[in-house]
Amino acid sequence: MLAARITVNGKESPISPAAPHTTVLDFLRERGLTGTKEGCAEGECGACSVLVARPGVDKPTDWVAVNACLVPVAALDGQEVITSEGLATAGGSGAPAALHPVQEEMAVRGGSQCGYCTPGFICSMASEYYRPDRCAHPESDTDSPDGSEGSDADAEHGPNGFDLHALSGNLCRCTGYRPIRDAAFAVGMPTENDPLAQRREQSPPEPVATRYTRDDSAFLRPGTLADALRLLRERSDAVVVAGSTDWGVEVNIRSRRANCVVAVDRLPELRQLRTESDHIEIGAAQTLTEIERRLDGSVPLLAELFPQFASRLIRNSATLGGNLGTGSPIGDSPPVLLALEASVLLADADGEREVPLSDYFTGYRQSVRRPGELIRAVRIPLPLSPVTAFHKIAKRRFDDISSVAVAFALDIEGGIVRKARIGLGGVAATPIRALAAEAALEGKPWATETVEVASQVLRAQGTPMDDHRASAGYRSAMLGQSLLKLYARTTEAVSS
Ligand code: FES
Ligand code: FES
Repeated sequence: MLAARITVNGKESPISPAAPHTTVLDFLRERGLTGTKEGCAEGECGACSVLVARPGVDKPTDWVAVNACLVPVAALDGQEVITSEGLATAGGSGAPAALHPVQEEMAVRGGSQCGYCTPGFICSMASEYYRPDRCAHPESDTDSPDGSEGSDADAEHGPNGFDLHALSGNLCRCTGYRPIRDAAFAVGMPTENDPLAQRREQSPPEPVATRYTRDDSAFLRPGTLADALRLLRERSDAVVVAGSTDWGVEVNIRSRRANCVVAVDRLPELRQLRTESDHIEIGAAQTLTEIERRLDGSVPLLAELFPQFASRLIRNSATLGGNLGTGSPIGDSPPVLLALEASVLLADADGEREVPLSDYFTGYRQSVRRPGELIRAVRIPLPLSPVTAFHKIAKRRFDDISSVAVAFALDIEGGIVRKARIGLGGVAATPIRALAAEAALEGKPWATETVEVASQVLRAQGTPMDDHRASAGYRSAMLGQSLLKLYARTTEAVSS
């Protein structure tokens, strides 16, 4: 096995002597690449954003922006990273460096004041700049930073096809967002000889099996699922990571140092997404961004979930396997997957078993997953129920933790509710199904009287708590309101 190495801005260097828990952020800064900043160190500000070459959805390679503060540098063994310094073209023979087009627009439109957040914004913006399916709206004026009039653009999408949600994980504390939005909506398309645009046409680096050890701790990346399962059987102390969005917070904020970290995010067996006649199977290590782009709206309830699940930066790393593996009662995917009647495929060295998600959680951050077992995939049965909704109640519209989350999936035929599935988060020690409310709907007319009764039943589901996010009474009230809101939406659609 070769010594662990990483390519940063085109230059390869050894990862050693960094400790196995060293983040990409610390690694870069210790090597003088101080454009990458630390703000929060927990994935909430985007000051540390960098670009990583990843398998693409529409082209062989996508330039994906990730939070460098959350990723162990050993996880990027053999991989390519671009920082804000690497985006500018180095001037040869004493010539000045040329700014990258996104840097240029940020500079001329006043998108940077103190500059602390700027390199992170630049990297997130560059990721969107290189998104292969970004295209300018026809007849739109790309010189108009607003672009809201006379084009298909709206407040969140520029006339140049720039999706402002690409910046949802970046915070600026002094400029204000208007000039940043102006810059984002003013960037053009990459030219043909842009080296990073050309790089998208070749495959990204293959994942490499990694065994990176220092003193008593190790970062291990097995090459196959069989190797991973053998390793997990041998090492009961192993911490499994995929996108590392939880691991990074544990390391940075809680100073946790695991003896053995096992990375599973590049295992081919966990990276598939297949649609069969009676189900969709989503590999546990697909990132949320990959799932969102590959499904392309074909599972409307998931399509409604994704924009509300953290930020684009987090979704570029986070996985469904990770969200279920942590067992958090306020994870955003479990209510949706419960409403979709999903099951979890658990693999260990002896084989695989399928567990309905409704039987998966057993207590606060606990599940039926046994030591040595890995979530290989999530299976969603088909056909899907046609009436769906996901309501996330949080203090901010985006990039926040749920106070309460409710997902609905209903079959309504001839005005009668044939099937109702309701998943809840934030109202018990685990995500739960609202079984009593489901029963109050099934077999009844989809009508005001039914919905009002079921809404009262829904209010009483779970055992919500008072905490700093919301009171128990507020959480219960939001459950009931959520069903009324869904009903109002469906009847509006019928009457319009
Ligand atoms: Fe804030 Fe990484 S430092 S997201
Ligand atoms: Fe100062 Fe954004 S320019 S924080």
